[in-house]
Amino acid sequence: MRPDKRPLELADHAMGLAHRPRHAERAGPATPTDPGDAAAAMAALRQRHDAECPHCTTATGHTQTVFGEGDPGASLMFIGEAPGETEDRTGRPFVGRAGDKLEEMIRAMGLSRAQVYIANVLKSRPPDNRTPQEHEVEACGPYLIEQILIVRPQVLVTLGGPATKLILGTDVGITRLRGIWAEWHPPAGLGNPIPVLPTYHPAYLLRNYTAKTRGEVWQDLQKVMDRLGLRRPG
Ligand code: URA
Repeated sequence: MRPDKRPLELADHAMGLAHRPRHAERAGPATPTDPGDAAAAMAALRQRHDAECPHCTTATGHTQTVFGEGDPGASLMFIGEAPGETEDRTGRPFVGRAGDKLEEMIRAMGLSRAQVYIANVLKSRPPDNRTPQEHEVEACGPYLIEQILIVRPQVLVTLGGPATKLILGTDVGITRLRGIWAEWHPPAGLGNPIPVLPTYHPAYLLRNYTAKTRGEVWQDLQKVMDRLGLRRPG
């Protein structure tokens, strides 16, 4: 089977990482020069977020905030929608069923969870897992933007509609946007645009677990791998 036709669930064998200069390709005034700087900046942002986020400090019904996790100097950052039940219980993003699928996707790319950074648009679980509302995104979204500016990844992957809508500032649906490279433009003076690849949310993939949907997501991931210089399965 050709690599680009390989269904996601089969693409889980080990793949080596091609050479990838971590900080060399980043630019912009907010780029930390030392991985420790990024970790410290992320820890400080987390503290500030938890103390002052207008959404997370006033929302009720969630147990704890789910800030994000992974390598704050990662080349690849995934952005989801909002914590679900398991995330709310554990304080970690993407650890329920959708999280297992995301982890499978990450491993199919030859990476581990620890090598990427994972965050959500909202950092508090919405009641009954409903879609984030506009005022919630407006309140919580700026902290995600700060997370991106700290990580300054080479590629952002938006998972599903709400993340894609926030990052690309569009109401066009995910089915039309997935698989098409776009760019996120940081606020003026804060560095260069970052390539964005929208793809389906892993929860959508699980609900629509067809060869077509799996193939589309795998195609998207391979585009990201090409961009990052990650080796495809041989
Ligand atoms: N878990 C998350 O952390 N985010 C999502 O968008 C879905 C599940």
